[in-house]
Amino acid sequence: MDNVIDFINVNREKYLEELKALLAIPSISALPEHAADVMRCAEWCGDEMRRIGLQNVRLIDTPGNPVAYGEWLGAPGAPTILFYGHYDVQPVDPLDLWESPPFDATVRDGELYARGAADDKGQVFMHLKAVEAHLKQNSRLPVNMKFMIEGEEEVGSGHLDDFIRAHKDDLKADVVVISDTAMFDRGVPSMCYGLRGLVYCQIDLRGSKSDLHSGVFGGAVANPAFVLAQMIAQMKDRGGRIKVPGFYDDVRPLEEAERKAWAQLPFNEKKYRKDFGIPRLFGESGYTTLERTWARPTLEVNGLLSGFTGEGAKTVLPAVAMAKISMRLVPNQDPNKIADLFETYVRKITPKTVELKFTRMHGGKPWMTSYDNPYVQAAARAIERGFGRAPVFTREGGSIPVVSTFQEELGLPSVLFGVGLPDENAHAPNEKLDLGNFHNGIIAAAYLYNEIAQTSVPA
Ligand code: BES
Ligand code: MN
Ligand code: MN
Repeated sequence: MDNVIDFINVNREKYLEELKALLAIPSISALPEHAADVMRCAEWCGDEMRRIGLQNVRLIDTPGNPVAYGEWLGAPGAPTILFYGHYDVQPVDPLDLWESPPFDATVRDGELYARGAADDKGQVFMHLKAVEAHLKQNSRLPVNMKFMIEGEEEVGSGHLDDFIRAHKDDLKADVVVISDTAMFDRGVPSMCYGLRGLVYCQIDLRGSKSDLHSGVFGGAVANPAFVLAQMIAQMKDRGGRIKVPGFYDDVRPLEEAERKAWAQLPFNEKKYRKDFGIPRLFGESGYTTLERTWARPTLEVNGLLSGFTGEGAKTVLPAVAMAKISMRLVPNQDPNKIADLFETYVRKITPKTVELKFTRMHGGKPWMTSYDNPYVQAAARAIERGFGRAPVFTREGGSIPVVSTFQEELGLPSVLFGVGLPDENAHAPNEKLDLGNFHNGIIAAAYLYNEIAQTSVPA
């Protein structure tokens, strides 16, 4: 193993340059004008997989963006890892808040700034480099590996469930490995054993055929902006509890042992407020901040649009108002059931003065595993080797919908091997990746394959 680690140490600078090339491709899946860039990025992943020595490399079509696939199956009898990641990234607006161009990766203070640096190109690249180091030095891997890198994660992975069902045999494996989450804090590596699920909806209200003069019509016609605000105000009470009937019916309560363990984590609420510029925290009463974000469901307004928002003043009654609303779900809530409950509630609280259009966008199930799962334990040992410190066990508030699909369709457990940081600005301006974590992550990934090779799970 020493020769593999030596290789990784020797090539440290080279990895940075290679990663910069990947980060230069603006593979924004949400924007149709970047379709060609998304394709180019899929091809880049394929070329790289071929270059490092993976076999049977190809781009597999879906009705959307292709999945970049590659494998190495030269270890008969050893376990097979199915690696999952995504090569698509989030849009970059507002562009003027970036201190360096989002697709011209720049190092400042040991951090690499670029869209996708942490979410998820940098973390996918870690594994490609760990595999390359094994193959270059030993001409073999300790495990079999199948890589699938998708291009629609940031828009809800709409075609991935069908893809997985259609390729069940090709994707046969023992465990899924994903690096697309954050560690608990700088210097505090973690193993994540739970993710929240998601339901995303849009509400459009119309109050008139077109905008109206607010002096001529104001007082006689309902204002959809006002109506929408009143509707949103009925979605949560002042204590942060969601008022949609039935919303909490299937929520699995937090276990006392889990609450105790989380209370021991080095979480500094003051620093958290300061880091993110939050005047005062708010959340469901009776729960700590970690409990609120990891184990309790929420309902949030992601965007709100209506009326005149330019400079100056304009006296107008807007014809329409729109809100994007999403709910984070926890075990054992079901996204379809929650979407039904929410739609019913929204229809009930919509007054007759406006027309409602309710649109369901995407969703994903919550996921949780037991942290004594032998693969999770194997990953914890690898993290310790890469980072010099045993990981703490965490859940996270974000969502990776495919994780529950792997469990349900392929019967596979997942190991979330994330090395991002909570302040890495994912989805925001100035996204970054800590280069120390990137390097340690490559080493940890290289150890992970050994650790998994030595893990046998009784059938
Ligand atoms: N990498 C994130 C998920 C994530 C981030 C998990 C931080 C845990 C901690 C992923 O790319 C993402 O952004 N997922 C979306 C879900 C999707 C359906 C658009 C999310 O969580 O909003
Ligand atoms: Mn991601
Ligand atoms: Mn993301």
